Order: sequence, then structure tokens, then C-alpha cells
Amino acid sequence: MRRGGVALAAAIMGILAVPGHAQNAGDATFTRVALPADFAKGFKLYDKVDKPDRKIVRYLYINPQALAAVKPGEPFPDGTILVMADHDVALEAGGTPIKGADGRLQPTQRLRAIAVMEKRAGWGETNLFPTDKDNGDWEYASFKADGAPNPIKLDNCYACHLPQKGLDFTFSGQKIYDLKK
Ligand code: HEC
Repeated sequence: MRRGGVALAAAIMGILAVPGHAQNAGDATFTRVALPADFAKGFKLYDKVDKPDRKIVRYLYINPQALAAVKPGEPFPDGTILVMADHDVALEAGGTPIKGADGRLQPTQRLRAIAVMEKRAGWGETNLFPTDKDNGDWEYASFKADGAPNPIKLDNCYACHLPQKGLDFTFSGQKIYDLKK
């Protein structure tokens, strides 16, 4: 039953999907979100979040077209793409993260993983999730360090971001609003 439902929904979405967008097989959650090719150069880096326990620094980016249209306190514009790139940090010989004079972790250029959320009108209506689990029109995707799609279940993305509804399902949205002050 579930398989049939997924296949049907995937077929419907195949029609709606933008050509070239990733389509996952098996147990992975279907997603229409692709990795923006040039995000590290073309997107605005709006925050860096140290995660000492995971030995990464998360670089947070937004696409410039969306940033131009952001209105502080309001839901993000249609077409917003947020990229979270996890960078490995520099380690001491023993594996302890090295901290800079400012107490911050020292990110390397080596990526561990990339997470993307993208908002498109109608995506909430046409995804596989029941309305009470939807994150508005946001859809999520996970990518490996080399940019290849990471075909995993994405339920946890939706579930953990859902309580952030007041910030349009983002955690770091205030940092983006702050850029517009
Ligand atoms: C357990 C909770 C949790 C889960 C699960 C989770 N996130 Fe997040 N996400 C966060 C938090 C917290 C942040 C803010 C950065 C930080 O502190 O790590 C964040 C930030 C982000 C951002 C930057 C924009 C924002 O909301 O601030 C993106 C993009 C993102 N997550 C995508 C994903 C994707 C894709 C998945 C699933 C593969 C996912 N997240 C799963 C908690 C979660």
C-alpha cells in the first residue's frame, strides 16, 4: 500500500519536478530540491555556527535573489534557497578541535555534508507529507560532501524544523532578517 502510494505520488511529482532535480529510489524521501552548483561563490554567507561536539562549523548561505526580496519578520520569499554546508574543523594531533584566539573553531575547506531547504509555491500541497507535518512550501534535501544526492529519509528534517514555524520553519532566519536592517 505504502509502496503504491509512494510510486503514484512520485509519478505525479515526476510531472511537476523541474528537469534535472534529484529523484531518489527506495526508502529515500522524494525531493525536488537540487544542490545549487555555485552556492559557495554565488550565495550570501550569512552565519557560521560552531558545533564542537561534531567537530564541524556550519556555513549558512542564502541565494541573493531571495535575500533581495526578504522582508524582516515576514515569511521568506518564494524561491528562497538556504544551504547549510558542514565544514570539518582543524584538529590537534589527538583529535581535539583547535580553537582560534577568539575561541572559535577553525573550519577547513573540507566538507562533511550539505543540507538544503528550498521554498517554492505549491510544494507543500504536492509533497508526500500530510498537511500537519508540512513545513509550508519548504522542501528539504541532503547531499554528500562531493555534492552527490544523499538518498535518506527526510522526515526528521521536517519534524525538527516544524516547531520553528514562527521563523518560517528556519532556525537561523533572524540572522537573515538582521542583514536587512
Ligand atoms: C534535530 C533537529 C534537526 C534536524 C533533524 C534537522 N535540522 Fe536543519 N537545522 C537545525 C538547527 C538547530 C539549525 C541551525 C544551525 C545549527 O545550530 O546547527 C538548522 C539549520 C538548517 C538549515 C539552515 C537554515 C535554518 O533553518 O536555519 C538548513 C538548510 C537545514 N537545517 C536543513 C536540514 C535538512 C535538509 C535536514 C534533514 C536532512 C535537517 N535540516 C534536519 C535542526 C535540525
